[in-house]
Amino acid sequence: MRAEHQGDDPAAAVARELAEVVGAEHVLADPDVRAPFERDWTGRFGGPAMLVVRPKSTAEVAAVVGVCAARGVPLVTQGGNTGLVGGAVPAPADRSRAGTGAPIVVSTVRLDGLEPVDTVAAQVTAGAGVTLARVQAAAAAASLAFGVDVAARDSATVGGMVATNAGGLHVLRHGAMRAQVLGVEAVLADGSVVSRLSGLVKDNTGYDLSQLLVGSEGTLGIVTAARLRLVPAPAETVVALLGLPGTAQALAVVDTLRRKVEGLQAAELFFAGGLDLVRSHAGLPAPLPRAWPAYLVVECAGLHDPSGPLADALEGLGLPDEATAVAFDAPSRARLWAYRERHTEAISSLGVPHKLDVTLPQGRLAEFEAAVRRAVEEAAPGSTLVLFGHVGDGNFHVNVVGPGPDDDAVDDAVLRLVTAMDGSISAEHGIGRAKMRWLPLARSAAELSAMRRLKAALDPSGLLNPGVLL
Ligand code: FAD
Ligand code: MLT
Ligand code: ZN
Repeated sequence: MRAEHQGDDPAAAVARELAEVVGAEHVLADPDVRAPFERDWTGRFGGPAMLVVRPKSTAEVAAVVGVCAARGVPLVTQGGNTGLVGGAVPAPADRSRAGTGAPIVVSTVRLDGLEPVDTVAAQVTAGAGVTLARVQAAAAAASLAFGVDVAARDSATVGGMVATNAGGLHVLRHGAMRAQVLGVEAVLADGSVVSRLSGLVKDNTGYDLSQLLVGSEGTLGIVTAARLRLVPAPAETVVALLGLPGTAQALAVVDTLRRKVEGLQAAELFFAGGLDLVRSHAGLPAPLPRAWPAYLVVECAGLHDPSGPLADALEGLGLPDEATAVAFDAPSRARLWAYRERHTEAISSLGVPHKLDVTLPQGRLAEFEAAVRRAVEEAAPGSTLVLFGHVGDGNFHVNVVGPGPDDDAVDDAVLRLVTAMDGSISAEHGIGRAKMRWLPLARSAAELSAMRRLKAALDPSGLLNPGVLL
């Protein structure tokens, strides 16, 4: 029964009811304590939360949803808050849903249970708040590996990665998060719990609710745990950083390596401007004896040492010695990877970035690179453009620093260019709040209508992540 107190404001009443569920110390009301949960990683998105609540179990999540549903208070689910499209933070105050005011942020970080690795099935069940780094470490301790890797591995959580269908550095080899998810446990908007954590590889018993939740960006349910597929741990890994004239040559190298080297698992492109920025931000030496217009990082891994076939393939490409750095041991590999992985933080050191993660048909990447440089200069003259990406997947990250956070002219120009070139407006980060306006460029009216009907069926009051995705 709800205990009303005279003169109580609604936030105090909700706080009291939530405290009964999770304990008062896990209901955060102090504005200074709430602040980091109210702003996203890029600094571009955010708004006030009524409260932040940190449940410890699936039952507590269900009870939190029950309290909010009864009071008509919307919820925003947040994992590691490393998402780059504003989906894990409240909308600005003036855009909060009319009548309901600021949402509650549900932080999943205390859903951090990690079961022992099932070595027979090569699977593991992880709570939504478990970080990617913990999953990777647990897999490695069992002589296995996890198929997805992103630079935000120390903070990004299983729940967030499921909800965004995270991509990352190894999609080329193992696919994105969707391919690793065998089942999900989640709390739906009515407080009911759906759970598919048995890990059955074959299970044709109707709609796949787990896969429906993958990539749903917190709009259909709160993921509380996931059953994840693990892959063989490579015995040997080799990384090469190559200096090249440009994107077309990088694509040619990837094409050759795909054919000639078993275990190609990453092919990442960046450019001279990005390298200079990373070097001055991180204080790193030049990776090669001379500068090149473009750089490709490739990683090959397998049960057998891939370094011989990789060396043969690179020799066959006729790359000069001064264009190649190769690393075999873990510290040397990490040194080469740093030039690519530290782009995100280096870009943010320049200001609040506009981040557009797009995919193009592989064969049009070089054409896109030239066109996007022109489009950005036209839409945001004098801004700084930093391009890099998972070139093996046709995925470019277009980063623009200069225009104010609310000036979306450059976003519009880039996303329309991508659409005109048969690409997708989001390769891996999702739609969030950042790209909602452009979703009709990517999805037909029939698809949008089906998506809206699904949302209405599972969350008729629109409580979960309002203003995200749809
Ligand atoms: P959050 O940011 O907390 O949330 C992201 C979205 O998921 C939000 O919509 C949120 O509401 C929802 N959500 C979170 N948890 C749950 C849950 N339990 N149930 C339901 N919904 C939930 N992404 C890539 O794809 N590839 C990359 O290579 C990559 N590299 C990155 C590198 C850096 C340095 C950074 C900062 C980010 C990078 N990202 C990358 C983006 C980010 O790490 C991923 O989107 C990641 O999946 C987000 O996880 P998170 O736990 O931080 O989620
Ligand atoms: C990456 O590939 O490093 C990420 O997706 C992060 C980014 O786009 O900055
Ligand atoms: Zn990426």
